[in-house]
Amino acid sequence: MPVYRYPRIHASEITPEEVWASRRQWMKAAGASVAAGTLAGWPLLGSAASLASLNAQRSSKYVLMEPVTPEKDATTYNNFFEFGMDKGDPVKYASKMQTTPWKVRVEGECAAPKTFDLDDLLKLAPLEDRTYRMRCVEGWSMAIPWIGYSMSELIKQVQPTGNAKFVEFVTDVQPKNMPGVRIRSIDWPYRDGLRMDEAMHPLTMLVMGMYGKVLPNQNGAPVRMVVPWKYGFKSVKSIVTIRLLEKQPVGSWEQSQPSEYGFYSNVNPEVSHPRWSQATERRIGEDGVFSPKRKTLMFNGYANEVASLYAGMDLRKNY
Ligand code: MTE
Repeated sequence: MPVYRYPRIHASEITPEEVWASRRQWMKAAGASVAAGTLAGWPLLGSAASLASLNAQRSSKYVLMEPVTPEKDATTYNNFFEFGMDKGDPVKYASKMQTTPWKVRVEGECAAPKTFDLDDLLKLAPLEDRTYRMRCVEGWSMAIPWIGYSMSELIKQVQPTGNAKFVEFVTDVQPKNMPGVRIRSIDWPYRDGLRMDEAMHPLTMLVMGMYGKVLPNQNGAPVRMVVPWKYGFKSVKSIVTIRLLEKQPVGSWEQSQPSEYGFYSNVNPEVSHPRWSQATERRIGEDGVFSPKRKTLMFNGYANEVASLYAGMDLRKNY
């Protein structure tokens, strides 16, 4: 299998915002909603020029005392390899992804497997607006206000059995709409997994919006995961299947380059990637090429919350 290697990043790669083709997608969805009355809980577009707004309670717990990354950067500088390898490819091509109707199947080691549609997901728990620090394995970071709720809210709905030790998250594959999946850079569908206690940790989020609006396609519409103490590739986008498993699943990157990407992939400034250091990072939208790089924090700054999950584990071996 041809192996794609994460490229090294240069500030010059940041693509200026183009006209968001993805808006067309939401305009269509909003049009359908108007025709059918209002889809319960699914908001209409505010205007043709913006994504639909998504109301959420601002979290008092998950706040960051750091500037939020400009929305323009967070929505034009993306990794979504189904749409290409360049940071600007997702915003260019993801508008073609079909996001309505969308269903998420939660199955495997549980007493009550169930398929959820978007309305179900939006109503499942109160939506919260939480700002999380995000750190990509490539050495850049952002601070993003996500909208959603803890993943545990969804998982507990299906009544996991005692055999559910791990959770696998799988993305949709739309060969006609995703130019990247025609190239076998990875073994599609894109997928990754967590240990059950990681998935049930309150920080782990099921996300349907960002910056007060529904997710743009390039950021993983209509529903994705966010795990802020792990490298960004664990935060699977556009999820269609969530599988509770007894055995540890193998993620897409772990499968293609096991020596470089491990199952845990916790942000760890002390453990270098085989080809580069992970000690520092560049904050997109703030740090220029000539700014000194900022120090990467253990568990991306979430050590107080999550370090206990790994007590007694050798984090060099379990990278
Ligand atoms: N999910 C899917 N389905 N496909 C991908 O290529 N890329 C991952 C992750 N989730 C990816 C994915 C990587 S490498 C990163 S860094 C983050 O999404 C980027 O999320 P963002 O574009 O919203 O910042």
